[in-house]
Amino acid sequence: MKLSVVILAAGQGTRMKSSTPKVLHKLANIPMLEHILKTVTNLNVSEIRVVASEEMLENQIFKSLEKKYKFSTHIQFERKGTAHALMSALDTKLKYPALVICGDTPLIKLDTIEAMYEKYNELKADILCLGFKAENPKGYGRLVTFDDNLVNIVEELDASDDQRKIDKCNSGIYIFDNKHLPNYLKRINTNNKKGELYLTDVISIANNDAQKCIVHLTDEDEVLGINDKLNLAKAESIIQKNLRNKFLVDGVTIIDPQSVYLSADTKIGRDVTIHPNVIIGENVVIDDCVEILAFSHIVGAKIGSGTSIGPFARLRPNTKLGKNCKVGNFVEMKAVEFSDHVKASHLSYIGDAKIGKSTNIGAGTIFCNYDGSAKHFSDIGADVFLGSNTSIVAPIAIGDRAIIGAGSVITENVEHDALSIARARQVNFQQKAQLIRKKKKIS
Ligand code: UD1
Ligand code: CA
Repeated sequence: MKLSVVILAAGQGTRMKSSTPKVLHKLANIPMLEHILKTVTNLNVSEIRVVASEEMLENQIFKSLEKKYKFSTHIQFERKGTAHALMSALDTKLKYPALVICGDTPLIKLDTIEAMYEKYNELKADILCLGFKAENPKGYGRLVTFDDNLVNIVEELDASDDQRKIDKCNSGIYIFDNKHLPNYLKRINTNNKKGELYLTDVISIANNDAQKCIVHLTDEDEVLGINDKLNLAKAESIIQKNLRNKFLVDGVTIIDPQSVYLSADTKIGRDVTIHPNVIIGENVVIDDCVEILAFSHIVGAKIGSGTSIGPFARLRPNTKLGKNCKVGNFVEMKAVEFSDHVKASHLSYIGDAKIGKSTNIGAGTIFCNYDGSAKHFSDIGADVFLGSNTSIVAPIAIGDRAIIGAGSVITENVEHDALSIARARQVNFQQKAQLIRKKKKIS
């Protein structure tokens, strides 16, 4: 697509009341800015420029985005408003019309940008502004139109009582003709209530030059501007609804959609069933025919086909489960690899381990992976039987087909096919119970 994209992301985000830059707050577990970067990267545009603040350069989330996506970073040293932000990105000329997106509008869809681009070209517009009809327009810039033309955008604070009644609002997303844009930006002044350089002023300046400015309308839900935590929570509920609907349409069975939380990067195969109250965090891949039972919490896990999880299971990062495994209730796992057909049906902690095919992990088994200063690894073979209430003290290796007696504390390696029991031997004293009762006068 012949567009040069500029994302305005340097704003302080004071209303978020947070030390994290606004555009790096997360929605469906990925930063707002990443949502936009993902969308515009999929558009195949000629270039992407991000206007950032100096502090953002030091931020780890921003650094990882710089590694993951192709864009150039342009610093806005002082925050003087949206027009000033855009100017900061124009140190070199733009090759194509500028698609400008405010970094706090992360729900924008690819289809909408395509429709904007088509309309911009078809109607030979100089500026196209993406607008929406707001249920409550408070806080947004109002679109002043005449016939099909956009004449002006007036910010809430500067609007007259009549202008405030306009329900058509500015989304903060535009396509500008790249040739005239630098000149218009230079002509903007700070004569407004905030004393900022408003990008929205470009519209009246372009109109004075008899340029064609038009509006394309979209749904409010898609262009919600996120200024504070209330907006962030609203955007989260919209994105969750969108994600659930996408997976339902793709054939995933979600029994009570409202109670299931997904991430923007979640991947789910065919014939998967998700029961109520399940939370799926970032970096989760679920293969075909998996069943996730109620109240499970899953982050950073890859789940093989036919596997059953929960209820009440907790899968933490770097968990990889093979095919037809079972992770039952109150099982916690972290950095663990299960081969196929492994079962941990009840009440276990399994951390930093590799478990061979068809091994059974009995109820109450604990992998003691931490010695107070370092984490250690457990290597458990195939077809092993770990009896209930076993402690596996890492580092350790247990060979294939070994059987570990219930209640054992295993501190030394176990060979293939061995039986290992590590607990105090039981002693029964005949009739002794009666004697104790008599002595203590218990009937
Ligand atoms: C802006 C629009 C308003 C529109 C609304 C849509 C202006 C003057 N107003 O208002 O018409 O209805 O978005 O959500 O443009 N930014 C910078 N540097 C700055 C200031 C802002 O990079 O100096 C970035 C922010 O990071 C943010 C975006 O620009 O992503 C918009 O800034 P914000 O202050 O949120 O503008 P609004 O008041 O919401
Ligand atoms: Ca905003």
